Amino acid sequence: MKAKKFQKEKLSITWYGHSAFLLKAPGGKSVLIDPWLDNPRAPAGAKEIAPVDLILLTHGHSDHVGNTMEIARRTKATVIAIYEISLYLQEHGVSTVQGMNKGGTIRIDGLKVTMVDARHSSDIDVGGTVIPGGEPAGFVIEFENGFRAYHAGDTSLFGDMKLIAELYKPQLAFLPIGGLYTMDPREAAYACRLLKPSHIACMHYGTFPVLAGTPTELRNNLPPALKKHVMELVPGQPVAV
Ligand code: NI
Ligand code: MN
Repeated sequence: MKAKKFQKEKLSITWYGHSAFLLKAPGGKSVLIDPWLDNPRAPAGAKEIAPVDLILLTHGHSDHVGNTMEIARRTKATVIAIYEISLYLQEHGVSTVQGMNKGGTIRIDGLKVTMVDARHSSDIDVGGTVIPGGEPAGFVIEFENGFRAYHAGDTSLFGDMKLIAELYKPQLAFLPIGGLYTMDPREAAYACRLLKPSHIACMHYGTFPVLAGTPTELRNNLPPALKKHVMELVPGQPVAV
């Protein structure tokens, strides 16, 4: 679908490549998800991002934790992650951490952040050493204007996305499509059938050649009514929904 021009009091979304997104809430707070901001598709200087109020981490893999520590220390953003990762971050000098777990909701900065399930692995990989990182997760974020977004993290397709759809009715879904480590376009298309979002943002593709799925392939696997909901996001370019 065609992206609307940026307007105030809407949700603004900026893709930073891979699974990293900056969501500027209608009330003005900045939410950064999975901030690996020196990925091959990130705009130059992305790591210097400011201000950041919240950082949401879906799991412990380095392509998602990314630059969390330096950004949290610099911006004092609250980092929301599953309990085990929150402990790890605290041990490594990030003081603004809020642990939680799946099924829980945090009300913070005027937003409601719910941690939901994901099917993947989640150990923390630090220079070749693997530290247990709890389980992988996704997030549903409800903004001040009632708009709800679902960031699936890294995941395969799973049937409980139907429950996420029924309970939270997210209008916007961030879904991985690259394949190999996550859903590919065929699985992601089925996820869209379960979730029925009016905006579909593709992620976790094109970072490396092996993450080969494309938004075009996703569209080709979608029924006509959903095809037009696939957004054309370009790293570094904000769009409003
Ligand atoms: Ni991962
Ligand atoms: Mn990943």
